[in-house]
Amino acid sequence: MSNTEQLRVVLVHSEILSNADECEDLSELRLLAVSADLEICDVMVCRRNLPNPRFFIGSGKIDELKTLTAAVSADLVIFNNPLSPAQERNISREVGCKVIDRTALILEIFAQRARTYEGKLQVELAQLKYKSTRLVRGWTHLERQKGGFGLRGGPGEKQLELDRRELNERIFVIKKELEKVEVQRESGRKSRQKREIPVLSLVGYTNAGKSTLFNRLTDAGVYAADQLFATLDPTLRKYDLPQGGTVIFADTVGFIRHLPHDLVAAFKATLQETRDASLLLHVVDACDDRMQDNIEQVNLVLEEIGAGGVPRLTVYNKIDLNENLTPHAEYDGSGRPCAVWVSASTGSGIELLLQIVTELTRKNIVELQLLLPVSAGRIRAEFYRLHAVVGDEYTDSGENLLSVRMPEADFNQLNKRNCNVLDNYILRDE
Ligand code: GTP
Repeated sequence: MSNTEQLRVVLVHSEILSNADECEDLSELRLLAVSADLEICDVMVCRRNLPNPRFFIGSGKIDELKTLTAAVSADLVIFNNPLSPAQERNISREVGCKVIDRTALILEIFAQRARTYEGKLQVELAQLKYKSTRLVRGWTHLERQKGGFGLRGGPGEKQLELDRRELNERIFVIKKELEKVEVQRESGRKSRQKREIPVLSLVGYTNAGKSTLFNRLTDAGVYAADQLFATLDPTLRKYDLPQGGTVIFADTVGFIRHLPHDLVAAFKATLQETRDASLLLHVVDACDDRMQDNIEQVNLVLEEIGAGGVPRLTVYNKIDLNENLTPHAEYDGSGRPCAVWVSASTGSGIELLLQIVTELTRKNIVELQLLLPVSAGRIRAEFYRLHAVVGDEYTDSGENLLSVRMPEADFNQLNKRNCNVLDNYILRDE
């Protein structure tokens, strides 16, 4: 896309001295704007003791903003602070262009990135709820004038122009549809739980490299882009570990500090995978200046969604960006692996990561030796189908000496399907 098609934006970052802890990060707003494919023309930074009820910033600053937006022919002004609908309208009237806040920007990005049907519904619901308090046009009309590039992937202008009643009707329909989709998701989740295949959920701050790692691990071809929130729907892939055992890797939505509450709620179902995971792989960008803070932000969201108690392994990623970093593992006081340093891009440390994952999920693995009679050819084929066979010999009397290594749940299921006949064939239980 050429720059001439991009919307031109001015960012406004206002530090509120009475509430410094709640202030958003300006560099993150920049990243968000770039992620939404916006061209940042200028940034205005101001400080206030308290927000101005009418314009959020002071009236002198509003005049300055007006001059600035005119000078750079801005299409859009984005405030890093939450604005009330009235403030948005007042500022917009003064500066003569569309004004939105950080939450609306995040919603736009979510709308662009949602991939599955459920993800799209969740985004549309969150957007409609947000808009129902505002009922004003987004920036789609600006997009048209600019030649219509795909800034808005989800609900379009049509939705914005619905009156409140229609809006509520649409919210009702989407909620019903989501309920249906959630039932389907739930039944998939239950059947995975029943099979007891360990689910390993990749979580982490947005842009940490979860999708790249997921691709590296599973070769799934998941979309990875240097944009925030490239992933909005969890993607599940079954994976046979090189040293035996099967796990499911789940790629999830990237977290971000001060994630608007409605959005956490909107993605509850998506994040449920995380809460029910056997192990969380917390992917961390080891070369981000705010690494420690990002880790804490992710921990906070995990607590918030009830996943605080799930065992975890920290995966420090992007070690290729710093020549002092090498692939290695860290262990806690009890000798349990707690962190591993890798590069998802180059593949360095991935083998070590897989070894550790195998170790941490090993308790579900059984190793058995079976003496199968000639008549058990079908069962033997089943073990092969499950990639469980690690040794295969025949005795002098023609019986099959089969060594298998597999998740306990898979063995139990196979045994059950065969009326527990396998119990009679077990020679040695390691
Ligand atoms: P969200 O979907 O926003 O949560 O992002 P994510 O955590 O899934 O990150 P993604 O895999 O999309 O990667 C973000 C950016 O980091 C992309 O430009 C990747 O190419 C880059 N990246 C990921 N892993 C590595 C790595 O090991 N080394 C380097 N140098 N870059 C990496």
